[in-house]
Amino acid sequence: MADRRDSYYWKAKEDKFSSRAAFKLIEILNKFYLSAEGKNVLEIGSNPGGWSEVISMNNPNFHVAVDIKKENVETPYTFIRGDISRDSTWENIGVAMNENGVHEFDLIISDAMVNTSGNTDVDHSSSFLICSKIMEMGMPFLSRGGTVILKQFQGDLTQSFMAKWSGYFRKATITKPVSSRQASREIYIVFKSLK
Ligand SMILES: C[S@@+](CC[C@H](N)C(=O)[O-])C[C@H]1O[C@@H](n2cnc3c(N)ncnc32)[C@H](O)[C@@H]1O
Repeated sequence: MADRRDSYYWKAKEDKFSSRAAFKLIEILNKFYLSAEGKNVLEIGSNPGGWSEVISMNNPNFHVAVDIKKENVETPYTFIRGDISRDSTWENIGVAMNENGVHEFDLIISDAMVNTSGNTDVDHSSSFLICSKIMEMGMPFLSRGGTVILKQFQGDLTQSFMAKWSGYFRKATITKPVSSRQASREIYIVFKSLK
């Protein structure tokens, strides 16, 4: 039987990233001239850890990663196991910030998504709810000049989502990394430089 895993899967193995998703973040950071170096980074939906590895390689000042699933390995960053739709998870993020003397994030990134159902409307609506919660809860923590990168499964509400949040930033873009499967409706929203 043919091996359906694509070249990015094998490249992830070769480069020792935990997931092929790492290449999407690398591509987005390069395209938008972004780096995590010296920055305070909040990462949401981190498991199995490809994006976390990319951020760690950038030498951030502070990096907290959140996921419903627990990390299998010891991490060089703060890991919080929690559901981002629950206020208690945001309280725990606040506690981690306080413990590290951090008052704001320069970069909030999310690759969070529940298991896709195959139904595009259902997937879009779950993804939209995650993105909305991150913006509502994360914006007060974002530094001036800060950036948000969000995965979203594109659909009817994407346009109104962009309209609602774009004005707070100097630049708002929807991007589809080459390393994202073309058949998938996933896109990445980059809100760059909070006014
Ligand atoms: C595509 S994976 C992330 C891959 C990761 N960025 C990497 O590079 O390896 C999506 C992750 O989002 C997490 N997730 C989904 N809904 C979530 C939520 N409400 N709160 C926190 N994490 C969530 C899932 O548990 C899953 O691990």
